This record gives sequence, C-alpha cells and structure tokens, in this order.
Amino acid sequence: MFAARDLSYSYLDRFPALDRVSFDIHPGEQVALLGANGSGKSTLLKILAGLIFPSSGALSAFGQPLTEESLADEQFSADFRSRVGIVFQNPDTQVFSATVREEVAFGCLQLRLPQEVTEQRIADILTLLDIGDLADRAPFQLSGGQKKKVALASVLVMNPDVILFDEPTAALDPRTQHWLIDLIAQLGASGKTVVIATHDLHTLADLTTRAIVFAEDHTVRSDGPTSEILRDHATLHDVNLVHDHAPR
Ligand SMILES: Nc1ncnc2c1ncn2[C@@H]1O[C@H](COP(=O)(O)OP(=O)(O)OP(=O)(O)O)[C@@H](O)[C@H]1O
Ligand SMILES: [Mg+2]
Repeated sequence: MFAARDLSYSYLDRFPALDRVSFDIHPGEQVALLGANGSGKSTLLKILAGLIFPSSGALSAFGQPLTEESLADEQFSADFRSRVGIVFQNPDTQVFSATVREEVAFGCLQLRLPQEVTEQRIADILTLLDIGDLADRAPFQLSGGQKKKVALASVLVMNPDVILFDEPTAALDPRTQHWLIDLIAQLGASGKTVVIATHDLHTLADLTTRAIVFAEDHTVRSDGPTSEILRDHATLHDVNLVHDHAPR
C-alpha cells in the first residue's frame, strides 16, 4: 500500500517533524504510529494522505510515486483520493457542509457515483454509525463526538481501501470509544488497511497488530508486532510513552 524511504519533513524548513523514516505498509495491515506528543505522527498521516509532501525521501502508494506532481494528474489523484481516507483528530477541520446528509454525500459526488447508489450508500452509512437522526442537522452545531461520527461517515461512504485515523478515541466518552474500537476492528477484519496515530497504549492491542514507534527526535525507534512493543518497557520509557512514578 505504502513504501516510505528516508522520509524527512520540516515545517517552514525550521521545525523538524520527521527524520529519515522508512517502512512498508502492506494491504490489510492494522498499524499503529506510536509516539509522544510532537514526535511526528500527525505529520506522517498527512503525508500518507497526500496532503503535504516530504522535504526529502521517497514515498509510493499502490506502487506509484506519491508526489505533488503525480497528484496533479487528475486520474491518479481521483483514484488515490477514493482509495485513501483520513479521519482527523479534530473533526472541526473536516466538517463544512450545511447538513450532515450533504457532508456525507460530498465524497460520493466527487466520485461521480449514480444518484441511487449515492443515496443507498448514505442511508447505509448513517445507519451503521447510528446518526440517521442527525441527517438534517448542521454539522457545526453537533457535539464533538457526533461531529467525529459525521467525519467518519464522510470517509467510510467512499469505501476506501486505506483508512488513516489520527487519535481516533481522543475526546470520546467511554461508550463511544468502545463503539469506535469495535468499528475499527471490524474494518480491519473486513480487509481494510488501517493506520492509527496514537499515544494511547490501552487501545493499541485491540486495534493493531503492528506498531511503528517514533522517538521524540522524530526518527523511528522500533517497528514490530504490537504485543512485543507493548512488552518492550525500555523502548516505551525511552520515547516517553511510559514513565516511572516517584515512590510515595
Ligand atoms: N503547522 C506547524 N508549524 C510548525 N511546526 C509544526 C506544525 N505542525 C506541527 N509542527 C511541529 O512538528 C512536530 C511534529 O508534530 P506532529 O503534529 O506531527 O506531532 P504528533 O506526533 O502528531 O503529536 P501529538 O501527539 O501532540 O498530536 C512537532 O515538533 C510540532 O511542533
Ligand atoms: Mg498529532
């Protein structure tokens, strides 16, 4: 799905966010990007989504180079954008339509699907996410958790092969967190490739089978099975994902 070689990224050429990061992500994998605040997870997701481009290094998606130039090709861009969906941490950056129904329809209109197909898909997704009763509401008036569901609906309605999640369970109540974890697990079980940026060690084992660990210097510190990473206390300590409590 993705092949990344020595990706580096700096904001404004001054603020480093990724330093020579390499990995492959295979079809159907569920991968965590694990790291402390500021280690570069969100930056990497935006690069994988083709929203920003690495300062150096090479990235390909579906066997094709993923660059500003390749995405200038309308055919490649439409194909890539229909196959890769991203759910941002903050849904306010993602919902902009007048109603929830229009928000969810937007992606289908981009895909130029026939109207009946679009309507059926929207109905299915609203039911799946249990937000049918919100269909005629304005997304910006909804609660954070409701907005998150709408953002998720607008991505899932495209039926992408790859779904990128940035801190999916942040700011959700426990019941909604559980529901979302189940949903993400189902997406994985149905063969979707799922990449999740997180620093939450608790949900990791339920959601992913592999974790790529980022250090605070923006390099990859470790890459392996989630169960092994979770047992590797020294690495987790090193990258500031666990800390020792001072004795009382
Ligand atoms: N728009 C920006 N301008 C300048 N620097 C930025 C910008 N966005 C992020 N950075 C910097 O890039 C680095 C990586 O940020 P990024 O948001 O990718 O981290 P993260 O791992 O997602 O962190 P968090 O867990 O807090 O979400 C940080 O040092 C951050 O300060
Ligand atoms: Mg982030």
